[in-house]
Amino acid sequence: MTSNPPEGQAAAASGVRTLAGRRVLVTGGAGFVGCNLVRRLLREGAQVTVLDDLFTGRRENLPESGFEFVHGSVCDPPVVERLVGLSEVVIHAAARNIVVSTRNPREDYETNIGGTLNVLLAARAAGGRRIVYTSSTSVYGNPRYMPVNEDDHLSLLTPYAVSKLAGENYCMAFYESYGLTTAAVRYSNIFGPGQDPANPYCGVVAKFAEALFAGKPPVIHGDGNQTRDFTFIDDAVEATLLAATSERAIGEVFNVGTGVETRVNQLVELLIRTIGVDVVPVHNDRRDVDNIRRRVVSIEKARRALRWVPEVTLEEGLRRTVEWQRGVLARRAGG
Ligand SMILES: NC(=O)c1ccc[n+]([C@@H]2O[C@H](COP(=O)([O-])OP(=O)(O)OC[C@H]3O[C@@H](n4cnc5c(N)ncnc54)[C@H](O)[C@@H]3O)[C@@H](O)[C@H]2O)c1
Repeated sequence: MTSNPPEGQAAAASGVRTLAGRRVLVTGGAGFVGCNLVRRLLREGAQVTVLDDLFTGRRENLPESGFEFVHGSVCDPPVVERLVGLSEVVIHAAARNIVVSTRNPREDYETNIGGTLNVLLAARAAGGRRIVYTSSTSVYGNPRYMPVNEDDHLSLLTPYAVSKLAGENYCMAFYESYGLTTAAVRYSNIFGPGQDPANPYCGVVAKFAEALFAGKPPVIHGDGNQTRDFTFIDDAVEATLLAATSERAIGEVFNVGTGVETRVNQLVELLIRTIGVDVVPVHNDRRDVDNIRRRVVSIEKARRALRWVPEVTLEEGLRRTVEWQRGVLARRAGG
């Protein structure tokens, strides 16, 4: 007798079936999230094209072959028109990060808003394209209630939050005005293999792990009692592919997190245990660019509409990340 697969696996299976053989453009595909999306799409049998200007992304993040790589910018309308025209599905992950954005809001504006508009205009011109936009839980700022829902109050504390929300709003406006099939996912602190600590906004997990592997104390901003909802990359990829394939995703925005609130101090303790080092973290009082006290998201909407549930616990995700980073360091040491 066969038993039914758990809910998450059933959802995974449906995501798998519908993207096989389809032409998928991943903007920002050489970055952390993008390269994990590309590997998964290739495993599912999709025909993948990556558009990336290699601003923070790296060609080495991607497999050597099996897909098309275009070195170019989403700010270049003719390139975007050509590539969107050749694709059925676009996963739009190209973005300037929060550090660049805070330093130079115009650069952020040009890529995060202008680039998104280019993708949407190209999709409208081509017709029949499916677009998934990768947004951020930064749009909630310091949430009033937790866990925060998709339709709770938004509070835009950084130029980055403004541009990510603008991209989302354009997606929804193109859905309402032109019937373009768009969906948005709001990622919450994604971590995992492929996150490059050399990228200035790589996220705290990669930064802390890099310090610990180098035998240095990790530097925690403030008292470390600030909280986040840390999401393992494979779960975020799965949610993104479901947003690209499920009919119930169209015209909608979904939180992609875990619903579990973790203090930064707890995260560092777990990492120290996972790596197996004896290091005491240090605290500084530098103001973080993402100066949010507490944040944890509700994932009920994605669970109900997409039948998606995160499957990797923080402990297991950290174990896989540490294992990956050990491999990278060993390869580097071996030349
Ligand atoms: N990692 C997270 O925790 C997180 C959280 C919230 C939202 N996001 C969103 O997910 C997406 C991917 O983020 P990531 O963490 O992989 O960051 P990343 O910096 O690793 O990847 C972004 C990619 O976009 C490319 N890019 C930047 N500007 C471009 C341009 N003008 N044209 C073409 N490519 C360009 C970069 O070279 C890079 O490869 C972004 O849209 C980001 O806003 C990520």
